[in-house]
Amino acid sequence: MSSLPLIAPSILSADFARFGEEVRAIDEAGADWVHVDVMDGHFVPNITFGPRLVECIRPWTKKLLDVHLMIAPADPYLEAFAKAGSDIITVHAEAGPHLDRSLQVIRSLGKKAGVSLNPSTPESVIEYVLDKIDLVLVMSVNPGFGGQAFLPSQVEKVRRIAAMIQGRPIALEVDGGVTPETAPLLVQAGATALVAGSAVFKGGEYAKNIAAIRDACLL
Ligand code: DX5
Ligand code: ZN
Repeated sequence: MSSLPLIAPSILSADFARFGEEVRAIDEAGADWVHVDVMDGHFVPNITFGPRLVECIRPWTKKLLDVHLMIAPADPYLEAFAKAGSDIITVHAEAGPHLDRSLQVIRSLGKKAGVSLNPSTPESVIEYVLDKIDLVLVMSVNPGFGGQAFLPSQVEKVRRIAAMIQGRPIALEVDGGVTPETAPLLVQAGATALVAGSAVFKGGEYAKNIAAIRDACLL
């Protein structure tokens, strides 16, 4: 029997000309968090937006802003993302060079600290930072673009991380290719939060799409 995951729609799939209204719409459609994909064209092969966007969408929702930094280095920008109104700031373990330091800085800024793992990165990278994280973000696609095919290999990684963090107040979030078909596998493996971009924004029926992912996890 699975439990209900938190749903974090990714605004990477929103209409970039109408971010404020899109954030309000997913909030009203039942999003638990708002997932903000920051890309630098260097760590990942795509460019999105920076702290100014976080600042601009902040007044449009009271839900947690779950900011996923796909940038390297991340450290020079952590303070700006914190000041802009992020609630969770997640850095990639691969972005380096000092993951432990980055996580300490995020917490010192009063924010929840997350670490994200690319599909090829083993879960062992979080072993020595478990006391410094509030969230682990498992990438179930190679980061950079929405709408990619889900990598089934990551279900086992979710299961292993769930065992590693058991008993600790750490959210286990999965990002990439989440749909009503893949969501139950992830929740059964121990995921507690799911990011979904294309599956939420497709067809413009945000409430229906969010409910479809949640409901699939109850079956
Ligand atoms: C990928 C991003 C994801 C992406 C997910 O680099 O981190 O958050 O928006 O999009 P879908 O749900 O379409 O795979
Ligand atoms: Zn993301």
